[in-house]
Amino acid sequence: MQKRKIVIGNLKMNLETVSMRKQYLKDSENAFNKEIFENVNVVLCPQNLYLESFVNFFKEKNVVIGAQDCFWETYGAHTGEISPKTIKSLGAEYVIIGHSERRTLGETDEEVSKKCSTALRVGLIPIICVGYIGQKEDETLAISDSIESILNNVSQEDLKKIIFAYEPVWAIGSGKTPSVDDIHTVVLYIKKIIGKKFSSEIIDDISILYGGSVSPENISNIVTQAHVDGVLIGGVSLQAERFAKTVKIINNLLKK
Ligand code: PGA
Repeated sequence: MQKRKIVIGNLKMNLETVSMRKQYLKDSENAFNKEIFENVNVVLCPQNLYLESFVNFFKEKNVVIGAQDCFWETYGAHTGEISPKTIKSLGAEYVIIGHSERRTLGETDEEVSKKCSTALRVGLIPIICVGYIGQKEDETLAISDSIESILNNVSQEDLKKIIFAYEPVWAIGSGKTPSVDDIHTVVLYIKKIIGKKFSSEIIDDISILYGGSVSPENISNIVTQAHVDGVLIGGVSLQAERFAKTVKIINNLLKK
């Protein structure tokens, strides 16, 4: 049986007014219907303040909700931070950790690692982003260093729950994507590093996504790569219709 593909929509700091949120939900009402989810798991990650309303709205539509970041403690004197426990108790099931837009603000692999452990502890599924800007040789080296340190405190059992997203920084929001061969090579490389650190037997249980300028126009080539388990979508997820169209294309490809 084919593995289900995963599509994650990262809405980032958008839909920034209540009326924009309302419009998005209205558009989603028409755009999403259950039959497009037969072979695809869809996760949508809005701003934290919208988590509860998105959970309530999208549960009818088989779309699960995630946050875009969390803190590594679950409660206490941490002004302005978001507890993973709160995210979970609002009904969200996933959390993106280590997105390059957070790393640009100074987030380190060590922090990503702590956030990942706490998210797993409260029952959230971490979506760990890895990627690097620069030459290809540097990229793979940076990715392996990152993965090594992020996974330091993760057990083999927990490892299977984590989703990884390979996101070359230059591809994010730029309209440019690596060639499908390059995506394939790096995704396999990530699997190899994880296999070396843990065991090669678990490699097939781990999901690795690609992210960066994914659209309905380029999705078919990307997602038909056997080792690419899905995609992380930014810009396109802001238009409910185009996002749903992307999901539909994947679903139809898997039906064949
Ligand atoms: P993009 O964003 O699809 O707009 O390139 C991807 C991401 O930031 O994860």
